[in-house]
Amino acid sequence: MFVRRMYFVNCLLPFVFIGFLISGVFWSSAAERDPLQPRVPLTLLDEVKTITNPIHSTQENIQRGKELFEGIAICSQCHGVGGKGDGAVAVNRGLDPSPRDFTNVEFHKARTDGELFWVINNGSPGTAMPKMTGPGMINEEQAWYVITYIRTFPQREGETMP
Ligand code: HEC
Repeated sequence: MFVRRMYFVNCLLPFVFIGFLISGVFWSSAAERDPLQPRVPLTLLDEVKTITNPIHSTQENIQRGKELFEGIAICSQCHGVGGKGDGAVAVNRGLDPSPRDFTNVEFHKARTDGELFWVINNGSPGTAMPKMTGPGMINEEQAWYVITYIRTFPQREGETMP
């Protein structure tokens, strides 16, 4: 009996423990909802798609967008400083669906600037993505700077953030 118990503790317990670790990882990471499906209601989609970003993608404007994204606009708390959708709030609250992974180049191809702007102005209903513009939050011009920055995430993949 004693020998048997020792066998369990020495040989099997580590596997049980590893099993817990692995399942813990799966439980805690929620998936993104299909990032290629439009979030703008279909009745508005054609019109929203045509809205263009008034901010030019210069190094200076990208930098300003980055400062907002990581600073007062608080986007990085959910989307992560690296834009992968793994910010502290997303991880701690187990947000499901998880915030958008901005390093996904297919997502960028599927969306116009106008669609990103609409979601920042209205939120994504049924998810934790809130309306981010308005009193006490960023204004529309600041939202455009943030979009200019968001668009640069795919080309930063694998690079050290400045
Ligand atoms: C409280 C957490 C939270 C904060 C703060 C937040 N987001 Fe999100 N965001 C989400 C989640 C969750 C989603 C995924 C929604 C979905 O799948 O429809 C998302 C999705 C998005 C999308 C993708 C929309 C699309 O068309 O698929 C954009 C763009 C976006 N967020 C921009 C921002 C910006 C810019 C900020 C800061 C101004 C911000 N978010 C702040 C949680 C957050």
